[in-house]
Amino acid sequence: MTPRGTLFAVGLGPGDPRLVTVRAAEILRSAAVVAYPVDTAGDPGRAYQIARPYLGQDVTELPLVMPMTSDRSALEAAWDSAVAAISAEAEMGRDVVYLCLGDTLLYGSFGYLLARYRGPVEVVPGVISPVAAASALREPLVEGREPLVVVPDGGDLELLCGALDLGGTVVIMKPSRLSTDAVALIEASGALPRVRVCRDVTLDGEQIFAPGSGADLVSLPYFSIVTILAPGREGS
Ligand SMILES: C[S@@+](CC[C@H](N)C(=O)[O-])C[C@H]1O[C@@H](n2cnc3c(N)ncnc32)[C@H](O)[C@@H]1O
Repeated sequence: MTPRGTLFAVGLGPGDPRLVTVRAAEILRSAAVVAYPVDTAGDPGRAYQIARPYLGQDVTELPLVMPMTSDRSALEAAWDSAVAAISAEAEMGRDVVYLCLGDTLLYGSFGYLLARYRGPVEVVPGVISPVAAASALREPLVEGREPLVVVPDGGDLELLCGALDLGGTVVIMKPSRLSTDAVALIEASGALPRVRVCRDVTLDGEQIFAPGSGADLVSLPYFSIVTILAPGREGS
């Protein structure tokens, strides 16, 4: 059956609920059903915490288990069952709001659901963590003709090397795989004085630091953004 309700995917920004867009707030306030990722222990992620102040008392919650794993078949099974659960609500004519941290389509789970979902969808963009980090740093992310390269996790040395070679700003999201080899590469390229780390941006525990040594970049917590500013911005 083709879903009759609309699936709204809403980007909720990096953490501070005041950074939710007007359109997202409007959708959250009138939501009848909210779907959101939970881990295998059932704990909702940050998107749910951001959305909570906007949700009504009577909202139906649809927690969807998204395991933190690289096992592709486990992930595909999770995406399939998430889409089945959302579709079941929409087939009854109910709109479903899917909660996304930051933007809906930047390293999020929603892209995988969108590829599988058949039915009307509205996607609402959100403030992404790399720009929230730049605001916290009070630094232009890029200027003039500088390229901006966003790379995942820092574990792929060839990718990181190629990104640094472009001569712009490099942002490493989910920097959990920044190894001593990756850090050595950053140091060897002369970029270490331009590295900034932002943790829990826009939240109470926000922390910003310029690493004193490469060791500060290894084993960063999950909610960290590493920004390697473009060459020439060492002293900022
Ligand atoms: C799965 S990605 C989701 C990104 C999200 N869709 C966005 O648009 O920002 C999770 C990564 O985003 C980054 N992130 C998200 N919120 C953050 C915050 N408040 N402070 C620092 N990093 C954050 C971290 O790098 C984290 O590992």
